[in-house]
Amino acid sequence: MDVLSNFLTLGIVFLLTLAFGFWLSRAGKPYNGVLFNIHKLLALAAVIVAVFEIRKTLQGDGATPFYGVLIALTGVSIIALFATGALMSIGKLNYAVSLTIHKAAPILATMTLIAAIYLSYL
Ligand code: HEM
Repeated sequence: MDVLSNFLTLGIVFLLTLAFGFWLSRAGKPYNGVLFNIHKLLALAAVIVAVFEIRKTLQGDGATPFYGVLIALTGVSIIALFATGALMSIGKLNYAVSLTIHKAAPILATMTLIAAIYLSYL
């Protein structure tokens, strides 16, 4: 229950980010400025909440080296999301490659973060 309540806000903000991502995608190009900014700001809010919650788990005994690897992978996925999101919006690099990474990275971020949370609360 503790885990659930700690990560509930993150879950909600993350789901909203996904929802606005799909909406932004479906609305087509040129990107709708309002949807784009909401999607970006929600993503930023999710990162801030995640860092805050992860910091708390680090104060327990769960911070094993494997936990560190998982959190690092989550971090890399998030950086990839921000980088590909920015690249798609300015039309740089290959759009299909960026979009593929932008679709895969949330899955990797979710899996690694859930595994890390699971480990730290064992
Ligand atoms: C936690 C971070 C983020 C998550 C989980 C996320 C997730 C998503 C998802 C699921 C989509 C829909 C993809 C599809 O059509 O299947 C999307 C689209 C998009 N996202 Fe993000 N995103 C994140 C951060 C960002 C950031 C920071 C930016 C901008 C700097 C961004 C820019 C975009 C753009 C431009 C699209 C539309 C792509 C297109 O279909 O042309 N995203 N995002």
